[in-house]
Order: sequence, then structure tokens, then C-alpha cells
Amino acid sequence: MHEYYAYEGACLYPFGAGCRLPKEAVPVEHPFSPLVILFARGGRVGRGIFAIQSEAELFEPEVPSVLLQPVSMSQALPCLPEPVRAILQQEGACALNTAFSRCYAVLKRFLNPPKRPRIVLVGLGDVGGTVLIGLKLLGTELDSIGIFDPNEAQCARYEMELNQVLPPADIPLPPVYRCNESALFDCDALLFTASRGVPPLTEKTGDVRMVQFEANRAMLSHYAKKARDCGFSGLFAQISDPVDPLARAVFLDSNQDERGNFDRNGLLPEQVQGYGLGVMHARAQYYAKKAGLDADAIRAYGPHGTGLIVANAPGAEYDDALSKTLTEQAATANLRVRELGFKPYLAPGLSSACVSVLKTLRGEWHDGAVPMGGAYFGCRSRFTPNGPMLWREPILPALAARLDAAHSTLKEFLP
Ligand SMILES: NC(=O)c1ccc[n+]([C@@H]2O[C@H](COP(=O)([O-])OP(=O)(O)OC[C@H]3O[C@@H](n4cnc5c(N)ncnc54)[C@H](O)[C@@H]3O)[C@@H](O)[C@H]2O)c1
Repeated sequence: MHEYYAYEGACLYPFGAGCRLPKEAVPVEHPFSPLVILFARGGRVGRGIFAIQSEAELFEPEVPSVLLQPVSMSQALPCLPEPVRAILQQEGACALNTAFSRCYAVLKRFLNPPKRPRIVLVGLGDVGGTVLIGLKLLGTELDSIGIFDPNEAQCARYEMELNQVLPPADIPLPPVYRCNESALFDCDALLFTASRGVPPLTEKTGDVRMVQFEANRAMLSHYAKKARDCGFSGLFAQISDPVDPLARAVFLDSNQDERGNFDRNGLLPEQVQGYGLGVMHARAQYYAKKAGLDADAIRAYGPHGTGLIVANAPGAEYDDALSKTLTEQAATANLRVRELGFKPYLAPGLSSACVSVLKTLRGEWHDGAVPMGGAYFGCRSRFTPNGPMLWREPILPALAARLDAAHSTLKEFLP
């Protein structure tokens, strides 16, 4: 096997045994940027595509306390050839797991992201309707927004009403169209807000998010299989509850063959992202501002709901007691709205979903749940031409321990 290959304007470097090359790859003598380091790892747990800036990141364990901290270069084992290391240090690289059959289709999307993304929104309930209004007004770069819900009248209503909205500036707003179920995955990002039933305001159910798991997983499985059958290479944005376990379920169900075997012929883990942390961050900032705290220093991690972690600051300023108070306030803010007699869906639809998905497609930092060692873990990340990148910064050990504990709990939730 040659060492380097040109493919779609990028340089592929197979690293280790078992890497699969696309048939269009052409051998070249020297590596160049953009560089894609190929590896082949089986299993249901590892990542599929991610941006790296050092060799050590290829090998690090997938737990939050490690991934969210800057990598120490002294930990790096010099395994890569010198020219590859030089490019990696200067420009970063993409790490691509060729054990996933559609890895090259997904790689192409990261190398050449669509300038005018096409979005499809599934579910036009309270959350979905709010997301749609936000996307219509804020998503001026979108090519179009497809909508789908089994409630035909709801689809007809939103198609009419939202195509009757005037643009606030000279930039036209994206058209909204009714999407057939057969064409749902003919898009760059599918936003899923459908639910089989949010508990009514009068019902005392405990966590209103977790009680929806079984019913929503069964409903989602149908869409996860559709994504697999269509060879979908875009983003599956999971918004309905419970966001984080359902994001993992979408990934797993899309990778199952007819006998239920995990075959890696479905979505890469990074094609699925859970969108529930945005509103938790916004709620924590709301309470922090009221208490006169620095809202910009606030960080939110982990699940959207029970297990959420809010920190007043990630580094030396971290205050455990204050952070736990902010966590409690953010995690129960939905109940404060419910106590007033309203279902809380405006801030969630706009912060968790609309703004966070638009930021994702724009390659900006945003809050969301990303694949990490067998669970979807909420943190700050962004899409880059080298693949998804995590926000890394120094984290105080006390906080890091809480993140690892929350991650372990999330991992235990799904088989
Ligand atoms: N991510 C977040 O930050 C966040 C915040 C609040 C709520 N949520 C969750 O969002 C979800 C939606 O909440 P809501 O208040 O809009 O619920 P809703 O009951 O108002 O709407 C649900 C919609 O799903 C549709 N639907 C039902 N079955 C479907 C199917 N098989 N395919 C497509 N659509 C189907 C229904 O027709 C309905 O329009 C819930 O799970 C809720 O807990 C998420």
C-alpha cells in the first residue's frame, strides 16, 4: 500500500491496519493539507469523524474530563511520519474511521459544506412551530425549509402562514414547503421535534423528558432506518425528549441490519447531534445575570434534564456550591413556567434548536450533545472542514470529576 492518496482535493493517509480507501483515491508522493488520517476501529462506541490538532488526540480515551482539556503534547507518542506530524501541527487534520461504510460521503460534506443548506423539520407541535418561526426569520442563508407532520392541517397552516411573513431587511427569507415523507432525507439537516406525547401540565410524572423515552424511541426508529436506507450523509438534529438517550438510539438504530446486528452501514455517530443543552445554558445565564454573576463564564455540560451540570466557570474560578445552585435553577426552570400554567417551549425551540442548529451549520461554537465513548454528552463544539471539534479549556479537577460521573450515568442508560 502507498502512503498517501489524493481524494476530493484532500490527502488521505491510511494509519494502521484495515483502512478502506475509496476507489477514486490516487496515490501521491507527499502529504498535503487538508489532511485526512484514516483508521479502522470497530465496535459500537468509537467516534467516526473528528478534527484533531495533535497526534495525542488520535489515542485519547473518550471521557469528558480528557476531551475537554487541552492536550499535553508530552503525552504524544510519535507514531506518525514526520511530514504528517508537521501538517498536523500547523493546520490540524481530520481523523476518519473507515469502518463506517458511508464515511467518505460524510467526509465530502465536511470538506465542502453547503453554502445554502436545505433543512427539513419533522414535528410541528409547540416546539416544532417555534423552531420553524425562528428558522424562517433567522435562517436567511437557508435554501429552503421542508416541513412534515402527520397532522395535515398543521402542515397546511404553517405552509400558508410562514410564506406570508415579510423579510425585515432586503434579504429574502427561506421558502417553507410541505415535504413528502419519502423525501425527508433529501436535505442537509433534518430537525426532529416530533413526540408521541408530552405529559399534560396537570400530570405529576417526575421528569417529563424521561417518561417519553420508550414511545419516542419506537417512533424515531422508523426515521433512523429511513436515514440508513436513503444513505443520508447530512445532520440528524435530535430535539425531542429525552434528547441525549434518543440521539444515541438514532445512531444505534440506523446502524442495525434486518436481524438487529450492528453493521456500521448507517449514520456516523457525528451525523447525529442532540439539541437540548442550548436552553439549559440560556436558563443558567438568565439566573446568573439576576444574581449579578458573569454570565459569559457560565458553562453547561451533560444531559438536557436530570444529570445536567452547570458551572459558574470552568477553571480556577469554579465554585462548587454556586454551580450546584445554578444547575438546580436551570434544570427546574421548565417547572417555573409550568407553575404559571404554560408549557415551556419558546426558549427551548429557539435556544436549544433554532439558534444552535443554525450555528452548527455555520461552523460556529454551540451547545449540543455529541458522541463521546458510547453516550451523547452535552458540551460546546463546532463543525470545521476537518470534522467536528470540541471546545477545550482547563477544567478544575472537582468539575472534571462531576463531568465523568454524569457521562458514566448516561452510558448506563442505553444497552
Ligand atoms: N430539546 C429541548 O430543548 C426541548 C425542550 C422542550 C421540549 N422538548 C421536547 O420536544 C418534543 C416536542 O414537544 P412539543 O411540545 O412540540 O410536543 P407536541 O405534542 O406539541 O407536538 C408533537 C408533534 O409531533 C407530531 N408527531 C406525532 N407522531 C409523529 C410521527 N410519528 N412523525 C412525525 N410527527 C409526529 C404530532 O403531530 C405533533 O405535532 C417533546 O419531546 C418535548 O419534551 C425539547
